[in-house]
Amino acid sequence: MARPVVIVGCGGFGREVRDVIDACIANGEDWYFRGYVDDDPSSANLAAVERSQDEILGGVDWLENAPKDTHVFIGIGTGSVKARIDATLIRLGLSEGVLVHPTATLGRDVTIAGGSVVCAGVRMTTNIHLGRHVHVNLNTTIGHDVEIADHVSINPLVAISGNVRIGERSMIGTHAAILQGLDVGPDSIVGGSALVVRNVEESSTVKGVPAR
Ligand SMILES: CC(C)(COP(=O)(O)OP(=O)(O)OC[C@H]1O[C@@H](n2cnc3c(N)ncnc32)[C@H](O)[C@@H]1OP(=O)(O)O)[C@@H](O)C(=O)NCCC(=O)NCCS
Repeated sequence: MARPVVIVGCGGFGREVRDVIDACIANGEDWYFRGYVDDDPSSANLAAVERSQDEILGGVDWLENAPKDTHVFIGIGTGSVKARIDATLIRLGLSEGVLVHPTATLGRDVTIAGGSVVCAGVRMTTNIHLGRHVHVNLNTTIGHDVEIADHVSINPLVAISGNVRIGERSMIGTHAAILQGLDVGPDSIVGGSALVVRNVEESSTVKGVPAR
């Protein structure tokens, strides 16, 4: 029987996760999309959901009575929000899965924890671990021996070199590059197109080339 799946949030990334599900189904995976839950969908997002002939099942509290075989993905990029929703998902004991777009390539020894989404065109080589509800967006590359903690979001076209560690809830902006062996502390933000050449301290924002 196909695995039912629900996305939290019908905003831009939530609807992109829906596309990943479509691609996985077309590739033979046994998902069945139930719909979105969203506490406050905008009229533009509602219209987009309607055009796609999908459904909004209710607010996030819909999950309280969801069947336990419901697999939930979080379509929201903010790490602290993902962590909060994930705590609810764990409390409810809902099912967990991972979504990897069929055009992504993964090498040996890659492990991906529950709720994570790997988008189209991502390249991941070897000995890489993604924590819970990590988002790796379009065409990002992740080199060898990389550790990405829970609830991190990596935006499109990022280049993460070997032996990098990214702490919980951090966000890596589009087109950033992180040089080898560096640590990005938890709750940090790396700006779009930044070149990270030194460790990034916890709860800090860096931007520019080199990133400061
Ligand atoms: C860096 C970022 C997090 C914002 O940081 P911020 O400190 O709040 O930045 P502000 O918008 O207040 O801008 C402050 C200054 O930084 C500059 N700035 C903003 N983003 C920058 C970036 N990525 N690189 C270089 N400079 C940047 C602004 O031009 C502004 O400069 P000024 O003071 O000379 O006018 C954000 O701009 C960013 O890059 N986010 C990534 C978003 C992303 O990846 N989007 C794709 C989604 S799929």
